[in-house]
Amino acid sequence: MHLICVFILMSLIKSLDSTICLAKLVPDQIRLAFAGNQGVSVGWQSFSCPLTTSNPNPTPTVIYGLSKTNLNLTSINGNSSVYDTNYILKTSWFYSVELTNLQPSTVYYYQIKQSNYVSASNIFSFTSAPIYGSRSRAINIITYGDFGVDGIVEDILNGKCLFERALGALQKMLPVTDFFLHHGDICYADDSPEDLFLTYEAAFNYCQSMMTNITSTRFYMTAVGNHEVNCTEIPVLNQLCSSSKKNQIPYSHRFNMPSKQSGGYLNSWYSFDYGFVHVISISCESDFPLAPSGNLLDTTTQVNWLKNDLSKVNRTITPWVIVQCHRAWKGSISKADIKEDGIINCPSCKAAFESLLIQYNVDLYLAGHVHWYERICLNGVVNTTQYVNPIGPVYLINGAIGSPEGSDKLSQRSNDSCFLSTDPGFGFLTITDPSHATFTYYRVSDMAILDQITIVKKR
Ligand SMILES: *[C@@H]1O[C@H](CO)[C@@H](O)[C@H](O)[C@H]1NC(C)=O
Ligand SMILES: *[C@@H]1O[C@H](CO)[C@@H](O)[C@H](O)[C@H]1NC(C)=O
Ligand SMILES: *[C@@H]1O[C@H](CO)[C@@H](O)[C@H](O)[C@H]1NC(C)=O
Ligand SMILES: *[C@@H]1O[C@H](CO)[C@@H](O)[C@H](O)[C@H]1NC(C)=O
Ligand SMILES: *[C@@H]1O[C@H](CO)[C@@H](O)[C@H](O)[C@H]1NC(C)=O
Ligand SMILES: *[C@@H]1O[C@H](CO)[C@@H](O)[C@H](O)[C@H]1NC(C)=O
Ligand SMILES: *[C@@H]1O[C@H](CO)[C@@H](O)[C@H](O)[C@H]1NC(C)=O
Ligand SMILES: [Fe+2]
Repeated sequence: MHLICVFILMSLIKSLDSTICLAKLVPDQIRLAFAGNQGVSVGWQSFSCPLTTSNPNPTPTVIYGLSKTNLNLTSINGNSSVYDTNYILKTSWFYSVELTNLQPSTVYYYQIKQSNYVSASNIFSFTSAPIYGSRSRAINIITYGDFGVDGIVEDILNGKCLFERALGALQKMLPVTDFFLHHGDICYADDSPEDLFLTYEAAFNYCQSMMTNITSTRFYMTAVGNHEVNCTEIPVLNQLCSSSKKNQIPYSHRFNMPSKQSGGYLNSWYSFDYGFVHVISISCESDFPLAPSGNLLDTTTQVNWLKNDLSKVNRTITPWVIVQCHRAWKGSISKADIKEDGIINCPSCKAAFESLLIQYNVDLYLAGHVHWYERICLNGVVNTTQYVNPIGPVYLINGAIGSPEGSDKLSQRSNDSCFLSTDPGFGFLTITDPSHATFTYYRVSDMAILDQITIVKKR
């Protein structure tokens, strides 16, 4: 296990400066996201030819179709972008395209088309979303926050390879998974200057490249975490982060969430429907009063958007409403909370969002940031695994799958906490029908079920 992991990391070091455009470049970091009703976006990365920073693929295009041998449809809205041209040997270009008017619940095959310098990708496939409101089958979602690369020092010297092990566990669940919700802190590129070899860009690229097996076949829907905002994680190293690492710029280029299609902003806030579930992703980092990471736009637009989005949901068609955001405002206190700022969770998030979530009867609130798994008791007081008609959203804090910073240490257990585990794991949410759902916490190391609850809602 360790040997394989060391081998992967060694190959990465070896490949750092080996791209020469005599050989064709490859499209990598291929990732799918929902893009509005019956739409899908495909994003990817490739390097420019060394010693140039120019776009190796000015007309990014995906061809797709209903069979591997008949990719007779062509993507629209191809976009190329670059945010850091300082790595002259390794400039990353980012691409996105849209596939539109997809038939519901249908297997599509797709391939990134070759260009002058970049070869075609393999042919991948995905199953398109069920039709809006369809309740013909259960919906399965993998949920977690705070997942990223360990860095070479931890991997080689300490043999941790937490990231690679967790990927293996997720891979096992893929056949039964419809999509992913990642509640922020993605890849932890801003932690990587601590390592000699993995700089910010190399860490982000390695992480997203390793995730391609997952993200090229399942929709990967992200929320913004503090690690995506301003590269301020390691204060002494802040100066090493160029201005292109501020203001969510890498996150904006590397992910393509359906903000445009849902009236949201950048990848910060957006929503989508999947069958009989409405999912909302909001930013607990910025754009509300006293937001922990400042503001990109202002303090009112996001909250107004959330209110409007919630008010438009037709609960007859999508009875389930799920919200993901990076931070929670309930739960136990970690040693890091005390050390950092003495602020427990996110009181300003509570002030901005909680009353709306209660008013509109949101079913689940999924957060990360704290590196453990914690379940808040039914209505904050009842210790049960049967959440029957809860008042307000069921609260799950789920940031334990594998942060390179390690799991958090408990300082003080909160009196509304009914389950807490620091074992690395991830959530698996099955929404069975309009009134029933099950949430399971799986441990990465052996896939043991550490916690399982059912949620019953009278509609
Ligand atoms: C593409 O091929 C499918 C069969 O796989 C066919 O039903 C469809 O009409 C074709 N579409 C176009 C635009 O040619
Ligand atoms: C991705 O899948 C391919 C084909 O199954 C496999 O060879 C490769 O090792 C996988 N890569 C990772 C990083 O899991
Ligand atoms: C292309 O993508 C970049 C980065 O995400 C974005 O800033 C730009 O607005 C996009 N251009 C178009 C035409 O959509
Ligand atoms: C990020 O840093 C920049 C430059 O220091 C600053 O202007 C901006 O307000 C910060 N952004 C956020 C969202 O905090
Ligand atoms: C919600 O959807 C149901 C079922 O399609 C429909 O009968 C009802 O009019 C819709 N409600 C609103 C407010 O649009
Ligand atoms: C739980 O703790 C909070 C303060 O953190 C307090 O207001 C509340 O009364 C306590 N509840 C119970 C049931 O002890
Ligand atoms: C909740 O109940 C379970 C099962 O009876 C018990 O193991 C656990 O310690 C209880 N948790 C709390 C926080 O009281
Ligand atoms: Fe965080």
